[in-house]
Amino acid sequence: MRVAILTGGGDCPGLNAVIRAVARRSWAQGHEIVGVREGWRGLVQGLLEPLGPREVSGLLPRGGTILGTTRTNPYKLDGGVERVLHNFRGRSLDALVAIGGEDTLGVAARLHREHGFPVVGVPKTIDNDLSATDYTFGFDTAVSVCTEAIDRLHTTAESHNRVMVVEVMGRHTGWIAVMSGIAGGADVILIPEQPVTVEEACEDLRRRHERGKDFSIVVVSEGYKLTYESGEQHEVTREEELDQFGHVRLGGVGELLAREIETRTGFETRVTVLGHVQRGGSPTARDRVLATRYGLKAADLVHGQQFGRMAALHGDAIVDVPLAEAVAELKTVPPDWYAVARAFFG
Ligand code: F6P
Repeated sequence: MRVAILTGGGDCPGLNAVIRAVARRSWAQGHEIVGVREGWRGLVQGLLEPLGPREVSGLLPRGGTILGTTRTNPYKLDGGVERVLHNFRGRSLDALVAIGGEDTLGVAARLHREHGFPVVGVPKTIDNDLSATDYTFGFDTAVSVCTEAIDRLHTTAESHNRVMVVEVMGRHTGWIAVMSGIAGGADVILIPEQPVTVEEACEDLRRRHERGKDFSIVVVSEGYKLTYESGEQHEVTREEELDQFGHVRLGGVGELLAREIETRTGFETRVTVLGHVQRGGSPTARDRVLATRYGLKAADLVHGQQFGRMAALHGDAIVDVPLAEAVAELKTVPPDWYAVARAFFG
């Protein structure tokens, strides 16, 4: 078979480790590997390149994706789907491994459902918000980056008696905030799933300061909506314009929250926005291993012609699930996880 690989959506550490594992296992099974450049755009425009042992060497520690990525949605382009199908057949491809999050895999699931497209999925996102898998690769690296940042902010917060607000990624869910907040000992964590109010957050900080602590760490997900006792709530975005998957560009809630905290409590407050640092650089060992196991599974699914499936982690086992199931709903932070974080607020 001629097996194509594409990476779509936001990049994350571990993508290259998946590419390596898919290629190595597929070669061992006698297949050829072709790289698709820049996500779905590569299949719309026919941007393919051969992938051989030289290209797939030294990839385990390498961040980003050697194939490039975009947020292109063929369903939003005139004739986009037809061009994907045309280029796929025209280049004599037999199967596709699509590595992506809810958007990229949503396209894969739809192409499979509507056209019997021979695709297998691998779940990627630093947000860890895909249902049907316990963890996505890239998440562990993002949590490690955030935890290290929180540790560093702790020492300077303590020196200056300040409140430090740390804004982390997480478009729909607060997994990164909760995990790094627990690991870093945050005093308040605000996430999209829990409508904790600004007033409650300030009260937690005041209580802590009354206990004799002069500094605090607040971790906030970019997707947390500023929520007030009055019931007022608003999402903070950088741009109103939507991408091809209908998402706004989030960011800036940390700045507004910091101002609110300073005004309401009188505690001097600073903000740090971690942004794309969370997605850059080398994957942790855990992400390299998970990405590798996903890659092998995806190659085996292709070899067995089990299309419309996605590699997933259930407990400690790598299994496969229907692609459609994986993108049906988001995996949000359950209340019992938030309760672990909350035990240390204030
Ligand atoms: O989906 C992953 C993610 O990192 C989100 O946490 C974040 O909102 C978004 O991507 C940022 O995307 P971009 O790379 O387009 O700035």
